[in-house]
Amino acid sequence: MGKLYVFDHPLIQHKLSIMRNKNTGSKEFRELLNEIGMLMAYEVTRDLPLQDVEIETPICKCTTKMLSGRKLGVVPILRAGLGMVDGILNLVPAAKVGHIGLYRDPETKMPVEYYCKLPVDAPERLLIIVDPMLATGGSSVAAIQFLKDRGCFNIRLMCLIGAPEGIAVVQKAHPDVDIYIAAVDERLNEHAYIVPGLGDAGDRLFGTK
Ligand code: PRP
Ligand code: URA
Repeated sequence: MGKLYVFDHPLIQHKLSIMRNKNTGSKEFRELLNEIGMLMAYEVTRDLPLQDVEIETPICKCTTKMLSGRKLGVVPILRAGLGMVDGILNLVPAAKVGHIGLYRDPETKMPVEYYCKLPVDAPERLLIIVDPMLATGGSSVAAIQFLKDRGCFNIRLMCLIGAPEGIAVVQKAHPDVDIYIAAVDERLNEHAYIVPGLGDAGDRLFGTK
């Protein structure tokens, strides 16, 4: 089964609490989501391989470390995943960005696909799928399957808040994918919203409600 990494860093928890507050407006919500995205990316990329390189400092020649060949891709699930991309790119500017368009049908709660555009060399990259909300898990499962269907198997999933039942669904469907998350909440409500959660992430991010 894939590993579940829960980020209990005080800065992340503090920023997430502000995001949860219903009185926090879109501007601050957007800024915080990007900041948390950057902080989480720091950990998600912790095991990236390094290689020795020769350089010359103002003092002398030396052998030091730089990232080696394994390239990164960030794949937001539209819409709300877009809110985490810039934070990650601040840390890893060379990463390429793919997009997967999915929305959750309000009646069936099942994901509906409408877009997919990936970097041409996506199968050679470590791909980090980003989406703030992991509720039933349907969108994450579908997004991971999208990537696998296109030959990509080196995948990590990075979310802000998850419901225990949704996390279990992803772990069962894709046991090879590790999940990185800032908080595991209590449960889903009757509308498949995360409790306590933060409401509809896409609407809060883009001010559409
Ligand atoms: C939200 C969220 C996830 C999905 C999670 O997107 O950003 O993609 O719901 O729910 P699930 O785990 O039950 O699939 P939404 O479908 O509201 O689309 P939007 O981002 O376009 O608003
Ligand atoms: N999508 C959201 O944006 N929020 C939830 O709580 C569940 C799904």
